[in-house]
Amino acid sequence: MAKTSPSSESIKAFRGSFLDCVADPFYVSQAESIRFIPDGLLVLKDGKVEAFGDFSTISGKYSGVPITDYSGFLITPGFIDTHIHYPQTEMIAAYGEQLLDWLNKYTFPTERQFQDKSYAQRIASFFLDELVKNGTTTALVFAAVFPESVDAFFEEAERRNLRMIAGKVMMNRNAPEYLLDTAKSSYEDSKRLIKKWHKKGRLLYAVTPRFAITSTDEQLQLAGKLLQEFPDVYMHTHLSENKDEVAFVKKLFPDSQDYLAVYEKAGLAGSRSIFAHGIYLSDSEFERLSKANCACAFCPTSNLFLGSGLFNLAKAKSTTTPVKVGLGTDVGGGTSFSLLQTANEAYKVAQLQRQKLSSFKALFLATLGGAKALSLEDKIGNFDVGKEADFVVLNPLATPLLKLRNKELSPAKSTLEQVSDQLFALFILGDSQVVHATHVMGTLAYTKNG
Ligand code: GUN
Ligand code: ZN
Repeated sequence: MAKTSPSSESIKAFRGSFLDCVADPFYVSQAESIRFIPDGLLVLKDGKVEAFGDFSTISGKYSGVPITDYSGFLITPGFIDTHIHYPQTEMIAAYGEQLLDWLNKYTFPTERQFQDKSYAQRIASFFLDELVKNGTTTALVFAAVFPESVDAFFEEAERRNLRMIAGKVMMNRNAPEYLLDTAKSSYEDSKRLIKKWHKKGRLLYAVTPRFAITSTDEQLQLAGKLLQEFPDVYMHTHLSENKDEVAFVKKLFPDSQDYLAVYEKAGLAGSRSIFAHGIYLSDSEFERLSKANCACAFCPTSNLFLGSGLFNLAKAKSTTTPVKVGLGTDVGGGTSFSLLQTANEAYKVAQLQRQKLSSFKALFLATLGGAKALSLEDKIGNFDVGKEADFVVLNPLATPLLKLRNKELSPAKSTLEQVSDQLFALFILGDSQVVHATHVMGTLAYTKNG
């Protein structure tokens, strides 16, 4: 390792093949949206990108800086999961039900355990290990109704220096008594948690009404009041996931023109609002989501597992009513922590609707698109100078099958078409097995060989 001067002690660098997005490939050409540097150097200072480019061009300027050599690996920005429930980790793969019965039979009894802080701490720790092992460095997370479950989660995330967004679930009806708060207590508890955690280090808070079915209008109004009082916190909920759910919402809110209107009336649809699913949205709802600059979390493994339906990605990414979209694993309705596997199922959901999801579009959804959905594109999502250096080191040859499918590329000669094809195979065939290492603000957070 080369010598470093004292002033460059916080500087380090990584060499390898880098791939990231600089624009949205759904709207501009591949050439304009994808940045591929076959033999690149990423230079970090205090965990942020200081310089990024061809190794041959910039390495001379950083000759004293220690370099970690990831040649032969493909380095992408850390994956961003825009919808997941940490208390549902242990109930992943629960058999046989669709949404409303699944909630009653499996989800609510599981979430009950999170009133116990030490239990919540143990699962939060397991959950975050699982995320990082899968290359996910940022997530928008449902905790449980108990404020302790939020404290437990943020404490664990803080220890790992992860950029995480989470919130206490607000739910005051249509669930077992043991899981209910009240409109007033949910407002007060959420407010206290916002003051305690929002913008503490890399942590951010999301006001989190579970969905329209489990909140009274009064509770939704108070959620809206929190957003007014704290304009830069997030709003995170479910929307239009399942046909029975949509029918129930219609019954509970007969004066609302549709599902989205229930949230709009409470002031819950804005540019920091993320709605999970959005499968049964009308044209009018798409228009209003687009106008208000809201985001949808596309959760294909969950939508297939719970038999919910097919998200219309082409409609969400249309030029007429564009809506911000990120990928969500939605564990435990979803069946994998891996955003690679989530992209695999997203590809199939697109296929079933005669839509195509290219590997670069999938990469966008999992990185810069997710960052945009979370209004975090100034901080994460690609390797632009100044951004926080969360990244994943992928091994395109991690398994015997991948070795056969993805022939070894020579870094100097590999083309964009070749890397697109290799990445596609990584999405379709890969999971945590292909994650060689994950770095958080430059620091090694996970390595397969560790
Ligand atoms: N709608 C309300 N709660 C939930 C949940 O926990 N998971 C999913 N997938 N949908 C929901
Ligand atoms: Zn969910």
